Amino acid sequence: MPKYILQVNGQSRSVDVAADTPLLWVLRDHLELVGTKFGCGIGQCGACTIHLNGVPARSCITPVSTVGRMKITTIEGLAASTTKLHPVQQAWSDLDVAQCGYCQAGQIMTAAALLKDNLKPTDEDIDGAMAGNLCRCGTYMRIRAGIKLAALTPAIGGAQ
Ligand code: FES
Ligand code: FES
Repeated sequence: MPKYILQVNGQSRSVDVAADTPLLWVLRDHLELVGTKFGCGIGQCGACTIHLNGVPARSCITPVSTVGRMKITTIEGLAASTTKLHPVQQAWSDLDVAQCGYCQAGQIMTAAALLKDNLKPTDEDIDGAMAGNLCRCGTYMRIRAGIKLAALTPAIGGAQ
């Protein structure tokens, strides 16, 4: 089995897995980072969204052999510290965005990446960026509100 040294949430993690193992399974089954969820397994729902070098990626269709030295960030590593939530997580908590919660780690990862590039997203910007993240509970309006609330926090760059 080949060995891969992955950069996960700021740490080097070593795994021995087949080259075509999806990154999602490496994260969940080998590294015990189970915040990232399995939904469709074919790149269509966004539940498995993580960041590769800060860019949202679908870990269910990302073979571990393609990751190399890219920086992997999962929901567990999104906040800068263990004592303070990321502004998107805080906004989600403040507004009770989640319903069943299953899709929400992926939603938060996509939203955080959007706000890195766009400090004042319009409804259209939000809908465009979030279009690939499905929510069976229909929390889309609260997701939109959560992104707008997070955009106001100084840590993101907004004014309060
Ligand atoms: S589980 Fe990866 S996109 Fe649905
Ligand atoms: S909160 Fe239930 S699927 Fe989105």
